[in-house]
Amino acid sequence: MPFADRLDPRFDPRSSTINSLTAARKRLIVALDVPDTGSAIALVDRLENSCQWFKVGLELFVAAGPAVLEPLLKRGHSVFLDLKFHDIPNTVAGAVRSAAALGVGMMTVHAGGGPAMLSAARAALDGIANPPELLAVTVLTSMDSTQLNAVGLERSAARQVEALARIGLDAGVRGFVCSPQEVASLRALAGPEGVLVIPGIRPAGAATGDQKRIATPAEALRQGASYLVVGRPITQAANPAQAAETILKEMAAEIDRSSGAA
Ligand code: C5P
Repeated sequence: MPFADRLDPRFDPRSSTINSLTAARKRLIVALDVPDTGSAIALVDRLENSCQWFKVGLELFVAAGPAVLEPLLKRGHSVFLDLKFHDIPNTVAGAVRSAAALGVGMMTVHAGGGPAMLSAARAALDGIANPPELLAVTVLTSMDSTQLNAVGLERSAARQVEALARIGLDAGVRGFVCSPQEVASLRALAGPEGVLVIPGIRPAGAATGDQKRIATPAEALRQGASYLVVGRPITQAANPAQAAETILKEMAAEIDRSSGAA
């Protein structure tokens, strides 16, 4: 399958002949929050036939460096590089260019970096062939009102997400990361072209860990998520592949339901 097809965030199950389980596989991103390349590859081995997308975040990237991306890309996987850049515009623009050169399919900056930083990040991708989807992280899913108040933000997470998304859209960014609780309002704001990547996903009965604003996979899709990011419910399961398949089936059922097939 061509890389661009795998990447296409505007994938519409209704206009496709592929089945809903295949559609679900294109929309699940597994967070490889592990400390070294060996552990990452061991997980990818187990999930090889279930999952297309893997997210490499700070823990793994800081330990293993860009070399950890090569085996994933070589196997034909799509990589979401989640380093959440937040710095002065010039520094972030340079980091975005460096990340794009690694061949990743998505990458993150913090929307809280402000309009100039977001514009510089987006402009850094101009002229690059097959650029990664630039995602602006709105409010971390681990932040509730107590955490927001502690850093001086009086407004609710929902209002803060909306304000940051407006800044992103004005800067030409169409991709966002937000919690399942804000995805419906962000979808309304960003429109069908918006690429909404949603962590804080917990299948019914799963441990929440440090996540505060959560939803089930089906609920997040119903609200308008383009992609779901799932870490611990898969990576710390006794059988990660089985845990992924359970989530994928729930996603597929929702994809069927929303397309009127079920
Ligand atoms: O283990 P869990 O499913 O909670 O993992 C969620 C992943 O999504 C983590 O890698 C975390 O860094 C990431 N993330 C998040 N909230 C955001 C952005 C990214 O939880 N707003």
